Amino acid sequence: MWPTHQLENALACLRAGHTVAIPTETVYGLAANALDVAAVAEIFRIKNRPAFDPLIVHVASLEAALPYVTELPELVKRIYTALGPGPVTYILPKNERIPDLVTAGHPTVGIRIPDHPLTLALLKQIDFPLAAPSANPFGFTSPTTAAHVQQQLGDAVCCILDGGPCRVGLESTILDCSGQQLRVLRLGGLSLEALEAAAGQPINQIQTSSSNPQAPGMLIKHYNPGKPLRLLAQGAALPATNPSRTGLLRWQTAVDGIPIHHQRILAVDGRTETAAARLFAALRELGELDIDLILAEEAPQHGLGLAINDRLRRAAASTDWE
Ligand code: TXA
Ligand code: MG
Repeated sequence: MWPTHQLENALACLRAGHTVAIPTETVYGLAANALDVAAVAEIFRIKNRPAFDPLIVHVASLEAALPYVTELPELVKRIYTALGPGPVTYILPKNERIPDLVTAGHPTVGIRIPDHPLTLALLKQIDFPLAAPSANPFGFTSPTTAAHVQQQLGDAVCCILDGGPCRVGLESTILDCSGQQLRVLRLGGLSLEALEAAAGQPINQIQTSSSNPQAPGMLIKHYNPGKPLRLLAQGAALPATNPSRTGLLRWQTAVDGIPIHHQRILAVDGRTETAAARLFAALRELGELDIDLILAEEAPQHGLGLAINDRLRRAAASTDWE
């Protein structure tokens, strides 16, 4: 399906302690050997990522995470049995095999089993887990194609594994499984409804904050598309702007009055999954236009719409230059 030399090349880079951009079903990741402190430091350097923001660790199966955690709650096993590999990161108590650099000194580690055949094949051929944040410079939009990675990180990475466009398009849902109760720390590519169905119980969600010690990397300013972005309620009238200097992110239909090539429609079929898969590429395209402002219509508050709105709010905050 994919040329084997691509995989061989990626394996050689990783085994030599270098970084590789990997495809996942959510977004592309910037991966390196999670057990090799120098390789992990390289990820932080390339991304210009602050050391307080922990990295997620990727493995091929839940079983493959066992050597790195002190405990695997029954509920996590139940959820994984129901869902399999997919857009969820399980925060679990770590053991000493995972370097403190990976977890920014936290006693927990984020474990993710990505649902992408190429990256699963890669993970099965190495005897170490892969630390991988999204493959974008810190604070910017996550890449959903190999071309996005090339554009943003280019030659800084040893190789880019091209697994095609990401199917889900939003980063994983982060589920804290280290306490008494499960809690969602970041909304993401698996909806709360789907997660609750798999868990067989309601799941709490913590409030996003830039200084919450339990969600160290959930910064309110993130996903900067490169142009100021203003959020509009669904169906709200457009504010008066100069149409030739305005970009528009619309939910389902285009509007009159703004040049059509300045408009991106997220979901002609009205499905939040369709919109999620399109979101980051659309923001990127609008950010590259010669305009002064992006107006972005909110998604409906169900399914992946919650996570889409979370990303849009942070994109708006990140361009809210004081
Ligand atoms: O879908 C994804 O999750 C992608 C793909 C590549 O797997 N990765 C990703 O990584 O989005 P990143 O680093 O961009 O976002 C991971 C988030 C960060 O905000 C980080 O703070 C949080 O996960 N995180 C990682 N380890 C954590 C931990 N032990 N406790 C709490 N939050 C953690
Ligand atoms: Mg990220």
